[in-house]
This record gives sequence, C-alpha cells and structure tokens, in this order.
Amino acid sequence: MTKRTIVTLPGDGIGRPVLEEAIRVLGSAGFEANYIEGDIGWEFWKREGNPLPDRTIKLLEEYKIGLFGAITSKPKDEAANELIPELKGKGLVYSSPIVSLRQHFGLDICLRPCRTYKGNPLNFIRRGQDDSIEEPEVDVAIFRQNTEGLYGGVEWSNPPKQVHNALMSHPKFVKNFGHVPVNEISISTRIFTKKATERILMAAFNHAKRYGYKSVTVCEKPNVIRETSGMMYKMAQQIQESGFPEIELWNTNIDAQMMWLTKNPEKYGVIVAGNMFGDIVSDAFAGLIGGLGFACSAQVNPDTGIGLFEPTHGSAPKYADYPVSIVNPIAMIESACMMLDHIGEHGIAGKVRKAVAKVVLDGKVRTYDMMKMTGRADVVEKGAASTRQMADAIIAEL
Ligand code: NAI
Ligand code: MG
Repeated sequence: MTKRTIVTLPGDGIGRPVLEEAIRVLGSAGFEANYIEGDIGWEFWKREGNPLPDRTIKLLEEYKIGLFGAITSKPKDEAANELIPELKGKGLVYSSPIVSLRQHFGLDICLRPCRTYKGNPLNFIRRGQDDSIEEPEVDVAIFRQNTEGLYGGVEWSNPPKQVHNALMSHPKFVKNFGHVPVNEISISTRIFTKKATERILMAAFNHAKRYGYKSVTVCEKPNVIRETSGMMYKMAQQIQESGFPEIELWNTNIDAQMMWLTKNPEKYGVIVAGNMFGDIVSDAFAGLIGGLGFACSAQVNPDTGIGLFEPTHGSAPKYADYPVSIVNPIAMIESACMMLDHIGEHGIAGKVRKAVAKVVLDGKVRTYDMMKMTGRADVVEKGAASTRQMADAIIAEL
C-alpha cells in the first residue's frame, strides 16, 4: 500500500516541538506516513516578505492534509520593521498565514471539541447544592464558521465615498452616525452568506447525529444582530425541522452563554456559531477542560477534502528558546487525532486518545501547566514533565 503524505507546518516558536512529538506519537501508534515540511511563518515573512510562500500552498493542494503547529503574528508596523533590509520600504504588508490558508482553501468548517479528561487537575469544578464539590463532565463539539463574519477582513477606516453613501441610505446610520465626519469612522463588516451558513449548520447537525449528541445550540445574538445571527437561527430551525427532528435545537445568546458557561456546561452537546462568537465560545469551553495545552481543532473544506489540523494555542515565543521545551503537547496530539479521523484512521485515533486519557488520569506525568506552575525554564527541574517526557509517557501507554 502506498503511504499517505502529510504536510507538516511547524511554523514558529513552540509549534515545532509540539508537532515533532505528535508525529512521534502517531508513529508509535502504528500510523505510517511520509511527512513533507512546508515553509510557513515569521522566518519566511522576514526573509521573503511572505509568511505563506506559494510552494507551501502547492504542497497542500497536492497532498490535502496539513498538520500545523503555530505561527507568530505581529502588528503591521512591527512586522514591516523586521523585514530584511532588501525588502524594507517596498510596501509589503504582513497578514496572518493561517487566516490566508483558511480563505485560500475555503476551510470554512472549524471544529473545536472540548472534552473533559478525568483526573486533569485543571478541570473546572463548582460547588453543588449541599456544598459538595462537583466536577461536571464537559463534552461539547463547537462548530465555528471560519471564513466570514467579523473576521472576513472587509473593513475600512475613513471609508471611501461609495461606502459612506451606501451607509447613509440606512436610516439608523443617518440617525446615529450621520453627523460624524467620515475620517472619524472605522467600520468592520459582519457578512454572512446563506451558503456558508448552511454548510456550518449542516456540519453541526450531521456531527450531532453521527456521534449521538442530543442537541445543537446556535450561539449567536439574533435578538440584536437581526440580519446575520437572525438568518443563522432561522436557517437552523429549517434544517432541524426538515432533516433532524430527533435532535433538539437550542438557541443561546453569546453573552448569556458566557455567563452560563460555568453553571451547566455538561448540558451542551454541539454548539454552532459564526466566526467571532465561535472563536469566543470555543476558547471559553477550552478553559473548562484545561486550557491551551488541551485545545485542539480541525479546519476543513468538505468539498475538496483539504484539512488543516492544529492546536488553538499560538507560538508562545517566550518559551521558544528554552533548551528543553516545557509546553504541553496534548493539544497538538489531539489535533493529530482529528486528522486521523478525517482520513478514516479511527482505530489509531482511538488508541492515541485512550493513551492520552490514561496518562492524564494516572497523573504521574504532568507538564507545568497541569501543575499550575508559572512557565519558566526550570520547571522540569522542579518536577514538571517536558514536552518530550509527556509524549514519552503517552508512547509508553501505547
Ligand atoms: P499563545 O497561545 O502562544 O500563548 C499564550 C500562553 O498560553 C503562553 O504564554 C503559555 O503560558 C500558554 N500556552 C500556550 N500553549 C501552551 C501549551 N501547549 N502548553 C502549555 N501552555 C501553553 O498566545 P499569545 O502569547 O497570545 O501569542 C503568541 C504568538 O502566537 C503571537 O504572535 C500570536 O499572534 C500567535 N498566535 C498564533 C496562533 C496560531 O498559530 N493559530 C493562535 C494564537 C496566537
Ligand atoms: Mg482564539
């Protein structure tokens, strides 16, 4: 059988060590693949003026599956300052390669599962009725629309005349902002299309059906953001009625959801939201199950099968130069499991997840975050597991 080829995109900072460990774990679990490294991130911005070179896009076009570590992003001006002298002053503008990848490949379906690991000292606990301590078991799958909405990039400061004229055709704009000088206005749009909204809703309902979740919650704000959130909720009602009568449709407002987060997180199943609210609600739920060291994600285009699998954490630059990497590789390893599911290797994914769960439950090997230490170079001396030691423990379990 020909081996599958996976494009590895370590990127910057801690992206590389966590990705290396995840690949080692997959290998030990019996997953055989060729890995080809794609160039992405800050180094390539500085040297080539492009953090996402075309050759990397070609690799993903060809092989379709990417395992991504993390990248460093910096504000526009700071980024321009770090270019090599030959590239300075040429008007190059930095933009995040991960956002570019989402848009280039139409990776509009983002899934971020948040599941409690038994025995994780970072699990959320709360006080129960009789003063007892409760540790609710969270198992939510958050579907975030990944290409539109507030992160769609359609925005202006001092908007051009046509844009301002269009806005002046809206009575509320005239009333509330009509008197404001144009050069004192900044606008970020929130565009939802029917097609993309239907795709994320269908992905959410199909996932609920396939994995036996009893509810799908639309987490938006339809009472206030009537056109976009309102459209999403209405479409969800139609989809539920016509195709998923056995699944309950719930509706929460993003603000209230944040308030209820700690009250009854175990009640939720699948949650679906637009881009920004999906970003918020997924970070919030991740906080209940251990935070960035545990938060994994998949971003896929179901039409092309192209998928990118990555931890939600960034490059944590302050830890990047430690001689021994201290960060938790579990988020990356779980993201790799999502990749295995995507390509149909459910058996190996299950094996790895079981091994991770066992190591967390045993509690003998814990990275600094799990020990509630401040991340410093000496945490390993003080008893925390390094990135590698955590991976070794998972491999030993396999
Ligand atoms: P970050 O996620 O890199 O780090 C925040 C803090 O979380 C770290 O200082 C560390 O204390 C903790 N942390 C992160 N990953 C961890 C892990 N695996 N194990 C244990 N602790 C972990 O976010 P920050 O500091 O806001 O951003 C750093 C850089 O990363 C920025 O340049 C940012 O733009 C970029 N970034 C990239 C992302 C991506 O590649 N998808 C996502 C978020 C940020
Ligand atoms: Mg985020």
